[in-house]
Amino acid sequence: MEKVLSGIRPTGHLHLGNYFGAVKSFVKMQNEYDCYFFIADWHSLTTCPSPENIRQSVRTILAEYLACGLEPDKATLYVQSDVRETLEIYLYFNMNTYLGELERVTTFKEKARKQPDNVNAGLLTYPTLMAADILQHRAHWVPVGKDQEQNMEMARKCARRFNNIYKVEFFPEPQNFYFSDKALKVPGLDGSGKMGKSDGNCIYLYDEDSVIRKKVMKALTDNGPQAPNSEKPEIIQNLFTFLQICSSKETYDYFDEQWNNCTIRYGELKKQIAEDLCKTVAPIRERIREFSSNDELLEKISRQGAEKARESAAATLREMRQIIGFNPELR
Ligand code: ADP
Ligand code: TRP
Repeated sequence: MEKVLSGIRPTGHLHLGNYFGAVKSFVKMQNEYDCYFFIADWHSLTTCPSPENIRQSVRTILAEYLACGLEPDKATLYVQSDVRETLEIYLYFNMNTYLGELERVTTFKEKARKQPDNVNAGLLTYPTLMAADILQHRAHWVPVGKDQEQNMEMARKCARRFNNIYKVEFFPEPQNFYFSDKALKVPGLDGSGKMGKSDGNCIYLYDEDSVIRKKVMKALTDNGPQAPNSEKPEIIQNLFTFLQICSSKETYDYFDEQWNNCTIRYGELKKQIAEDLCKTVAPIRERIREFSSNDELLEKISRQGAEKARESAAATLREMRQIIGFNPELR
């Protein structure tokens, strides 16, 4: 069965962008592929979180993964730092990756601009660690957003280069996985193109109904359509994207028709979006509560996941060591 891997950095709570753009796909994929979903806590070290912060955020994301419907009996759920095999694989990939290619990665350049006093080697080698995350399981598919395309290109390069240097067909080249022909982008409700933590415009899966309603009702709108059947400006299109994501087709068509014949009332549209979002989020929020108060279960699931992930990574590492010319025996 083909393998799938993906992960999210533990930097807060999951928002609707993470859910509709990534985790919802994970939930579907766990039934069809051999899946590994992890929490990228090593990657989060590039921004120096406190120990308490790391512990708390890792627990939060694990509880939220489970609340979204990921099942430990179907998918392997684990914490990146529990699988130390990754680090040795990371070392081997670093040996075959050039400074120039790492310096050209857009996210590196952006981060270096944002934190000029802390341009560390971990930031530079973020893509080779990500390549190790993926290739340690010899994954075929990686469900991530478009923003990760350049990191995925580096992962493919690591796979190709290793195969070429040692004249083996060991690593498959991992591919981005999108459910539709286009990656889904959940917009912000503040007129910005994307919902994201750093943009401060998120609706979180743990948000209460009243909070969701308030956030949606504050969404920017305009003066309404000026002529029948006109094109929707971006802020209005964003609201329709939400309808597409969380409402029925009938509801979408109803408001689309109202837009087209210029009778649309934005208040009514926003109320509908808020109600439909609440319907999606409320049961997840309830489960987040249950899972996050069950430390014992979270501990058990991450231990069980770490064991399975280590087995998979150790098998890859053993063969890599042999191919490179080291003693393959690992204790
Ligand atoms: P953020 O942008 O809030 O920092 P992350 O970069 O941690 O979120 O993203 C984790 C995962 O969620 C990635 O696979 C990313 O592509 C996806 N994702 C984040 N925001 C969105 C969005 N607005 N629409 C679709 N997918 C998203
Ligand atoms: N770079 C990803 C992000 O910023 C997180 C991540 C780390 C990841 N390693 C990965 C995603 C491996 C997919 C596969 O969201």
